Amino acid sequence: MRSRRPGLLVSLLAGAATVGALLTAAPAHAADPPLRDLADARGKVVGTAVTGSKLTGTYGEVAGREFNSLTPGNAMKWGSVEPVRGRHDWAEADRIVAFAEAHGQQVRGHTLVWHSQNPGWLTDGTWTRDELSAVLNDHIDTEVGRYKGRLAAWDVVNEPFEEDGTYRRTLWYDTLGPDYIAQALTRARAADPGADLYINDYNVEGVNAKSTALYDLVKSLKERGVPVDGVGLQAHLIVGQVPSTVRQNIQRFADLGVDVAITELDIRMQLPATEAKLAQQAADYRSVVSACAAVDRCTGVTVWGFTDSDSWIPDTFPGEGAATPYDENYAPKPAYHAIAQALGGGGGQPADGCTATYGVTGQWNTGFTGQVRISCAGASLASWKVSWTYGEGQRVSQAWNATCAQSGAVVTCGNAAWNGTVPDGGSVTFGFNASWSGSNGVPVVTLG
Ligand code: G3I
Repeated sequence: MRSRRPGLLVSLLAGAATVGALLTAAPAHAADPPLRDLADARGKVVGTAVTGSKLTGTYGEVAGREFNSLTPGNAMKWGSVEPVRGRHDWAEADRIVAFAEAHGQQVRGHTLVWHSQNPGWLTDGTWTRDELSAVLNDHIDTEVGRYKGRLAAWDVVNEPFEEDGTYRRTLWYDTLGPDYIAQALTRARAADPGADLYINDYNVEGVNAKSTALYDLVKSLKERGVPVDGVGLQAHLIVGQVPSTVRQNIQRFADLGVDVAITELDIRMQLPATEAKLAQQAADYRSVVSACAAVDRCTGVTVWGFTDSDSWIPDTFPGEGAATPYDENYAPKPAYHAIAQALGGGGGQPADGCTATYGVTGQWNTGFTGQVRISCAGASLASWKVSWTYGEGQRVSQAWNATCAQSGAVVTCGNAAWNGTVPDGGSVTFGFNASWSGSNGVPVVTLG
């Protein structure tokens, strides 16, 4: 587990189970539908990459509740499923598929033909063209065949292009030539005629040389009658740098007669996260999800991990992170509410586009420190008031950056003179100290 936020007084808490419960935060309105309900209503996918071994506890609850599609983040890659030639290990992949089926979720298979995360016996081997072709066919027959009829889509070919639009030089390209792509697609279609077959790549979200190479490839494959149903735009993006041509790019693929999926969305920032960066990130998530929502053939959006505690970013980009819609303690970030709004929800509010999120930032045996964040996306506020009801006898003793009063179990807080304004795409926070005993559940906060 990654280190928790500074100032969190978890060491005084009794047990790990208690900690998990205490550190959750609740979005503003209990009536907010989960993201998957919003997506279902629009006929779209809202998915997440998952780690199979984590699908229990809070991680499993959120994954099952909020998403209608799962992508195994690593579990279906060749190196995971066949680490030793001829000896398969399906445990993690099977677990994810079973979880998805138990939760009424689609599965997106990821990925069959890639230059990375392959087993050593494959990458270290010496292969003739015929041998490698047979190995590839066998892999596709075995893996696609195993899950036949159970997966909605496969990322058949992953990352075939360089940034300049030339083919990436890989084992596949160098040994089989560019038609390894057509071969893999054709073989996958035969192994599971019901799965949609995709080519997936990064830095192809906007119109550029790489996405144009992908466009030209898909066009020529379709002209040749090769089965290709869609393109995956991975969308590993940077805060403030969403390409301006995402919608236009999605539309041109749609016009070609293929589906488009945003397959690996995350939007990273330099740490530490600040309110301004989180607000910009929310606006960025909103613009990507909105671009997909605006095009019929865009099937939906999958995030590459839903919590900052399960993201590849900090390991790969030291100093960067906070790229997903939930923080490390499973509190929904402004980005979460922005996704909800782009899918047609209120983003935690009945109509006005602003949300309030309650979290416990530190706790000791008799007291705790809490924080409420008021965020707006697609709306703004000139002043605000929030309220909540404690169910377990908690009492607020002191607040800062807000004026709070408690009457019985009901706490009401209004803005201070200096933080009533919440701009579109911005947020403000206030803090408080309170007492507790027994238990300290998270209340539902109402804004307005
Ligand atoms: O499983 C081993 C573990 O046994 C070992 O102790 C640990 C030590 O580093 O490594 C673990 O493997 C890691 C694996 O993720 C599982 O956590 C690898 O080191 C690590 O390199 C690997 O990273 C994955 C990355 O692909 C590799 O390129 C990320 O989790 C995964 O999210 C990421 O996903 C890719 C997509 O498949 C394609 N698009 C880009 C995306 C991000 O790189």
